Amino acid sequence: MKWSASAPANIALIKYMGKKDYEKNLPSNASLSYTLDHLQSFVELETSTEAQDIWQPLPNHENLNLNAKEQKRFLSHLNFIKRYFDYNGAFYLRSANNFPASCGLASSASSFAALTQCATEAICALQNKALPSLQQISALSRQGSGSSCRSFFKSFALWESEQAHTVTLPYSHLLHMTILITREQKKVSSSDAHHAVTTSLLFADRPQRAQMRLDNLIAALQKKDWEQAYQITWQEFWDMHALFETANPTFGYFLPNSFAVLNYLRTFWQLHHDGPLITMDAGPNIHLLFRPEQQTMYQQIAENLGKKFQLFTPHLNAND
Ligand code: DP6
Repeated sequence: MKWSASAPANIALIKYMGKKDYEKNLPSNASLSYTLDHLQSFVELETSTEAQDIWQPLPNHENLNLNAKEQKRFLSHLNFIKRYFDYNGAFYLRSANNFPASCGLASSASSFAALTQCATEAICALQNKALPSLQQISALSRQGSGSSCRSFFKSFALWESEQAHTVTLPYSHLLHMTILITREQKKVSSSDAHHAVTTSLLFADRPQRAQMRLDNLIAALQKKDWEQAYQITWQEFWDMHALFETANPTFGYFLPNSFAVLNYLRTFWQLHHDGPLITMDAGPNIHLLFRPEQQTMYQQIAENLGKKFQLFTPHLNAND
């Protein structure tokens, strides 16, 4: 018997960085993300008679080749869900993304969300029981990879402690672009970064700063104050990167071209009094979000930055 599920990626505007509980992935601060519906992970589970679960790439999809460490982490989350439901049977676990691994977005949020959804559906069907609520499935997913709990809600998802949920805000249809500064695998994974930031002297007050920005960002979005939203999201990713740079030992993700692009974008805002929201995750690549009526600006920025950098522009020439 076979089951399949898919789930979208998300990009955080207020970042999850630092954990109160490493076992359960309870965050040090609340985070707010925008769900990227066009970037999906797909998971298929098929019952098997093998002695253990086996991961395989999903056929007929953009190939996702998980390395040994990633396969182990993915399979161990399946095991966690099986233990949660007290289910002992084995599965073939197949997965893929509709976006290239090199598009500058970590696929862990979408893939852990899709796996949790699929495994919950499969096991509940096999055990003949009702599906838990979306909140409960999201909370299970969080324990595999924290940021995945936000991928169950759209367009904006708020994750506070054990629960994530939708927050209804204007700007429910944004256009996304990534500027790829490098395709190289990062040296410090975001999971390792959550540990490392606790050594920064800036970490003690981080939860208060994040909460203040979260409140201010929600208020700005509610008022449709796009410029204020840009200011807050900009300050927020710099705050997270300041934690990395001031950790002991210090580490960081910025490359010279990250600075060059950020400088171009800030100057763009200064000249036009308008522009995209700008953010960076634990990596050197830069993510932009535009309002739908900024489609011409999207094209203009893509044309300018595209001369020098590789871009991921899923909304180029599209009207969505
Ligand atoms: C910088 O969810 O990847 O992208 O819970 O250890 O799996 P684990 O961490 P992960 O952390 C994501 C960190 C971030 C910011 C964010 O998405 O909020």
